[in-house]
Parts: sequence; C-alpha cells; structure tokens
Amino acid sequence: MDLLAQALNDRIIAANPHVYAMLSDLGKRIYFPSKGILSQSGEAKKLAKTYNATIGTAMEGGKAMHLSCLMRQLPGITPDDALLYAPSPGLPALREAWRDKTVRDNPGLQGTPFSLPVVTTGLTHGLSVLADLWVDAGDRLVMPDMNWDNYHLNFVVRKGAEACLFPFFKDGGFAVDAFANALQKDSAGRDKLVVLLNFPNNPSGYTPTEAEGEAIAAALLATAERGVNLVVIIDDAYYGLFFDEGIMRQSLFAKLAGRHPRLLAVKADAATKEVFVWGLRVGFISMAVGGTSDGLYEALNDKLGGLIRSVVSNASALSQKLVLDALRSPSFTAEHAAKVEVMKARALRVRDVLRNPAYAEAWTAYPFNSGYFMCLRINQINAETLRRHLLEKYGVGTISITATDLRIAFSCLEVAQIQDLFDLVLKAWKDLAK
Ligand SMILES: Cc1ncc(COP(=O)(O)O)c(C=O)c1O
Repeated sequence: MDLLAQALNDRIIAANPHVYAMLSDLGKRIYFPSKGILSQSGEAKKLAKTYNATIGTAMEGGKAMHLSCLMRQLPGITPDDALLYAPSPGLPALREAWRDKTVRDNPGLQGTPFSLPVVTTGLTHGLSVLADLWVDAGDRLVMPDMNWDNYHLNFVVRKGAEACLFPFFKDGGFAVDAFANALQKDSAGRDKLVVLLNFPNNPSGYTPTEAEGEAIAAALLATAERGVNLVVIIDDAYYGLFFDEGIMRQSLFAKLAGRHPRLLAVKADAATKEVFVWGLRVGFISMAVGGTSDGLYEALNDKLGGLIRSVVSNASALSQKLVLDALRSPSFTAEHAAKVEVMKARALRVRDVLRNPAYAEAWTAYPFNSGYFMCLRINQINAETLRRHLLEKYGVGTISITATDLRIAFSCLEVAQIQDLFDLVLKAWKDLAK
C-alpha cells in the first residue's frame, strides 16, 4: 500500500470506518499523487516567479501556445481557458458553481454537509469511477429491471458485480415493496450492498411521487439500521425535467444525505442532459454520509482524483469553461426553464395521443412523468421484431429494450410529429399481427 493511500485510508477510518469498509480493493489502494508532477507544478505556479519549467504544456508570450486557425473558432475565449489542462478533480469555480446549483435545486440539502462535486468526463465516466471506488467482483448491485443498459457493461462486465434486479413498476407506480424486499433479500449474509437508482428513469421516463420517494428512503435507512453498509448511487442524469405535480422534484440524494453513518449517498449527475450539452462531456460526483465527516470528503475526493488522474487525467477544460460560463449567466435559469417547457409540451402531447383507444390492442404505455423517454409494452409481437419492421418499412427509429418493451425518445420529436409517429408504430404492429 502506498503511503499516500494509507494516509487517506487512515483519515477515512478515523471519520467513518463503515465508509472505509465499503471501498473496493482498488478504492483502498488508490490515492491522488499529491507529491508528484501535479503538486510540484502547483507549487511552482504560486512560487516560480522567474521561470516555470514544470508541466507538459507549451507557453509563448505568457500564454498557452496556440494555432490561430484553432483559436479563431473560439471568439471570446482566451487560449489559457480553452487549451490548458484543468485540475484532475475539475475547475474549482465550476465545482463551486455546481455545488451551489445542487443546493438551489435541492433546498432540503441546506445545512447538510456533502462533498464538493468532482468533475468527470460525462456521467458515464463518473459511474465508472464510482464502480472502481466501491465495487469488487462478487459485490451485489441492486437496481430496477428498467435501467440504462450501460450499467451492465460498467458494473457487471467491467467490475464483476452481481446484478440483483427488482421490478420497477407495480400498479402504475414505483414498486416500493419489491424494492424493500430486494434490499432485505439481497443483503442476506452480506455486510455491504451497492444500490443504483435513476430518476427520471431511463428508459421509462418515470420519477416516483413524493410519497414513493419517502418510502424508498425509509427502506434504505431501515437497511442501514440493520447493520448493512450501503453505497446508494443516485443517477440524476435527467434531473429537472419534471412534467407533473406531486412527483419528487428534489433528488433522492436530498432525502438520504447525512441520514446514517452506514448510508453513503452518492449523487452522479452531469451537465450532459440537464444543460443540453451531450458531447461536451461534463459530469459530477457528490457524496454525503451520516455521522462525523471531518476530513472524510476531502480524502474520498482525493481518491476520486486519483482514479480520474490514472485514466483520463482530467476532463476537458474548454467544456468545463463553457458550462461554468453558462451557469454564471443571468439568463441560465430562464433559458433552462424554457427548454423544460418544450420537453413538457412533447411529453403531454404523447399522453394526449396515447388516449386513443385504437392503440389498446397493440400496446399499453408505462406511466411516465419526466425525462426524455417513455416506454410501450407491446402486445403479441416481439419488440425487437416490431422495431426492425418499423425502421425498415416506415423509416422510424425506436429502441427495443426487452422482448416486450419499446422505448420512444420524445425528446427528439417535435410536438407536430408525435401523432404520426404513434400511428406508424400502430401500422407496423398491424402489419405483423395480421
Ligand atoms: C440514466 C443515464 N445515466 C447516464 C447516462 C450517461 O450520460 P453521459 O452522456 O453524461 O455520460 C445516460 C445517457 O444516456 C443515461 O441515460
């Protein structure tokens, strides 16, 4: 064990030994190389008043060396902001701005300590860093049967986690009892569980009601009280796209943060879908646990920094700068709210169109109230067969999630296209059902 890793582990154990016990083997070994090139060049940045010959960037005339043909494309941005490296855990100002936004969006977090967000190269990278930090082969991962398919690659294929699926829906709502039973059953004989929840959910487009959210939090808390160490990863990719009253508008993170020393809540979110910047690749990780947290979050963030440093080194400084300036813009909130309204109009139009009784023989729509998607449960015909036929004969692209479920991304459709799309799905279904 490297001495720097040992020092971080000692700080984690001193603050919360349960959190130390949750770490994977790699999580225990990883550290931020605070005595290496990064720290030496950090020191030089402050003290090297004569010459700074530390880091592997090229400088000219006191700024980042650059090609005009590249910088010409970025009016208003300096070469230093666009081209130099960001720190491994992210630009400090962006981390602060995202933390402020998180508290603004989730007033329930006011006064609850949580870690300063660490920047990742999109949410996918954030999830892989979390898998590295918390998951060993054979660890159980509890998640709903309706989940983003990339979780499988990330947690099961890469890390060897054992996926324990529970049914997402029961009677038109979140299957709270099935979730509580899964926590009970899957923790039998284990002292640790990793739980992964995503609301608004991909693929269903469902966010639990306030009451369901309270019941989810209560089930997790009861599990921690039984002595199980819980790492609860909350994937908030589609946060903020809420279209109904009465649904949980604050992240589940706000209901779990600081609640129990054995319950580590991890918020994985991103500018990606929320700020509509898919290709910029800017994600964040924030963490909170009950009990004392003196030095704990700094130590865990150093471990996250080490995981980031060892694989991607740091996330794009230009992308971070763009997101930071957008967050700082006085029109951010109003512009964002206007786009949420556009998405809401599409979701409501889908609902309206689906009221047509002609569709009843072909499918049932799962409940949806948020996010980018909704799902149809297809009668009689295999969803993949339908998807192919719809694509080949009618030029309509959808996603078959399982043998029965077809996902429609209404996020990509204009309101005026929605009726036609569902009519074409019905036509395709009728072709096959004949
Ligand atoms: C639930 C969920 N989490 C995470 C991601 C990945 O987001 P990013 O593009 O930031 O890696 C997606 C993207 O589809 C998603 O649907």
